[in-house]
Amino acid sequence: MANHNLRDRLEHLALNFTNNTQWRSPDLPIYERGEGCYLWDIEGRRWLDGLAGLFVVNIGHGRKDIAEAAANQMSRLAYSPAWQAAHPPGIEAAELISSLAPGDLDVVFFVSSGSEAVETAIKFARQYHAARGEPSRTKVISRRDAYHGTTMGALSATGMASLRNLFEPLLPGFYFVGNTLEYSDAASAAAAVEQAVLDQGPETVAMIIAEPVQNGGGAIVPPDGYWQLLREICDRHGILLVADEVINGFGRLGTWFGSGTLTKAIPDLLTFAKGATSGYAPIGGVLMRGPVMDEIMDQGVPFNHGATWGAHPVATATAVANITALKEEKVLDNVTRNQDKFRVLLDEIMANHTSVRDVRGMGYLYSIELTHNRSTGQELDTAQTAEAVNNLLPRLIREAGIVIRADDRGLAKLMLSPPLIAEKTVLEELCHGVDRVLSDFETWLQS
Ligand SMILES: Cc1ncc(COP(=O)(O)O)c(C=O)c1O
Repeated sequence: MANHNLRDRLEHLALNFTNNTQWRSPDLPIYERGEGCYLWDIEGRRWLDGLAGLFVVNIGHGRKDIAEAAANQMSRLAYSPAWQAAHPPGIEAAELISSLAPGDLDVVFFVSSGSEAVETAIKFARQYHAARGEPSRTKVISRRDAYHGTTMGALSATGMASLRNLFEPLLPGFYFVGNTLEYSDAASAAAAVEQAVLDQGPETVAMIIAEPVQNGGGAIVPPDGYWQLLREICDRHGILLVADEVINGFGRLGTWFGSGTLTKAIPDLLTFAKGATSGYAPIGGVLMRGPVMDEIMDQGVPFNHGATWGAHPVATATAVANITALKEEKVLDNVTRNQDKFRVLLDEIMANHTSVRDVRGMGYLYSIELTHNRSTGQELDTAQTAEAVNNLLPRLIREAGIVIRADDRGLAKLMLSPPLIAEKTVLEELCHGVDRVLSDFETWLQS
């Protein structure tokens, strides 16, 4: 494909969540190649991908073996639906993912994105309760600042006003409670969830959805015991517990899933996407507990939901190749081996920069929350936050040659999520870049 004049031809490609100034900017990166933890743009500049694309490329860029697995499937059977039929890669991917999932989460319904996975969970919950004779259970409890996707159902579960406002009215029956950052301990955070259930009427609530480590609001790690309390609340009131692991899943936290290992609780449904193929093909899915699926299947009716691309042969073959490689190469061990070092590097950044308000996260998922001056307690004002997140920080990040994300959903912050293959030296290089960004940011604050 010809690379010449690509910038001039960019006007035809509408970008996601990108304003006109950003779209038309000569600085908009156009990446054309990736290898390991690095990207190259069309001008030949090398970038360190500290975001794994978008919390996606867990195994790293440029894997020829995964590309070959996809190509082989494409030439063997590129497409066949998962409607009243099946195919080998779909079966293999579902079996493999089930084998890694905690508890009796052992049935997979594949879709093509994280939003669709959440959408599927919302519809599944409704049909599940209807199958059990409780069709009035349609409400969803979600958490403030949580991002669950952009389709109308997933957006209705998203607790970010800035994303919702333009698209009101959204679906009725979605209610929000504080995430765990708003409470001092697990018991009070969980009590707020149960209070919302009681306020709505437990017999009307279908599901509670939450991420084990909530990305929106900045890598919010739950206090010990919180998820066990959520599990108890759901059991007490007959509600489905849904863990959204679109970001958390497939090694981001150093384990295959946050559910079970981190949360010590097994959800009824678990949504995933991104890392399942490390981005080598689009995928999403919902892991379901067998007995929960049986409630619908025992009625002799289908789960009345699906799409042309559901369990796409190439996407599922790609998932098998990716997950098998993650397993065989013990990539998650790389995270557990280096995560303490990563944390130390980030703590050093905080110690060296008064503009860092907090460092939160675990594994290879971190948020660096920004402020004006931590020592004096001076906060960034609204105008400073907007300028920093929309213009200044993206520019400083580009100048540092790293790819990370400046985010203003909640307080201004930088999000870091390197490929899981990132070794200590890569983490050091990434944190060196972040250090430079923050030094320049502080110079700007003082000017
Ligand atoms: C927790 C969570 N759920 C759902 C989604 C939506 O996924 P997608 O962008 O693939 O639709 C995202 C996307 O970042 C996410 O982080």
